[in-house]
Amino acid sequence: MTSADIRGSNPKTDKQKRILSGMRPTGKMHLGNFYGALYNWLLLQEEYECHYFVADWHALTTEYESPQDIAGYIPEMVMDWLSVGLDPAKSTIFVQSAIPEHAELYLIFGMFTPVPWLERNPTYKDQIQELAHKDLATYGFLGYPVLQAADILMYKAHGVPVGVDQVPHVEMTREIARRFNHLYRPLFPEPEALLTEIPKLTGTDGRKMSKSYNNCIYLSDPPEVMAQKVRQMITDVQRPYKRDPGEPDRCLAFPFHRLNLPQERLEEITESCRAAGLGCVECKVLLAEALLNNLAPIQERRRYYEAHPDEVKDILLQGNQKAREEAKRTMAEVRDAVGFNRDVQLP
Ligand code: TRP
Repeated sequence: MTSADIRGSNPKTDKQKRILSGMRPTGKMHLGNFYGALYNWLLLQEEYECHYFVADWHALTTEYESPQDIAGYIPEMVMDWLSVGLDPAKSTIFVQSAIPEHAELYLIFGMFTPVPWLERNPTYKDQIQELAHKDLATYGFLGYPVLQAADILMYKAHGVPVGVDQVPHVEMTREIARRFNHLYRPLFPEPEALLTEIPKLTGTDGRKMSKSYNNCIYLSDPPEVMAQKVRQMITDVQRPYKRDPGEPDRCLAFPFHRLNLPQERLEEITESCRAAGLGCVECKVLLAEALLNNLAPIQERRRYYEAHPDEVKDILLQGNQKAREEAKRTMAEVRDAVGFNRDVQLP
């Protein structure tokens, strides 16, 4: 299901649909994060009750040897969220570790989640390979999806906007919800992944845009830095000279053009490139201008939040408080369903 589907389905009951998503704090947001996830979060907050949170305990599953950066990454990431337009008046924005109820729900889910479900999770297997330099043969990393299920079910979310790599986790959340509802009593809806259409944006070196490859364009890059990075983007490698006709479909900068230029300008550029008119250098100058222009209001808001860190802190404190109240309500129901709600009776 895509977010377009959820938006297009039943308008009456949809208003009550709850959306939840989280991101691990990895620092400043880059264009891949923006177009791949945040942009969708913004659209959803206009129509649904949304919860967006910083998954700092999830970050700890892989960064437990050097967790010191995580705390600093939280405000960096949240400032970007606010700058692009996540609005605390519309969305509850909070930090996972400020809501200890997540850990309690995770513990309870852990009691009945079969280990083979976790071991055969494709994302788990991929990650272990990709992060082979880290020792991830830990209990915490194996349990990653159980913690994610606790995040999602705590707020009884119906829709979880995520990239395709996260679909197995949402599937497992459904299975955990079903198992809980069956073992104790029906409490949790079964959430659906809202697949984000991810435009094929590559980093400046042609690989996937990723902090670990050092090839990212950050939302907050200063204009000179951004222009420089755009200049480095790989264009059509089959067009060594300007006099050769080019093909936008082979150009790694073109997906960025698509997201930043108006349709008619795109058509002009496409034609001119194919006719060996516009050269790649000039073409990327146009791109840098368009990008900077589009990001200017975002960057201005970011400067505002950088100058007002207390405001960011307040937004998080209020979001945490709101999330915590909801989490406490859910946990009261959970304890009651499992039979752990009785006051201790002294003999
Ligand atoms: N695992 C997600 C990721 O790496 C982050 C995450 C944690 C999440 N808990 C979540 C996403 C709950 C959606 C819902 O991107």
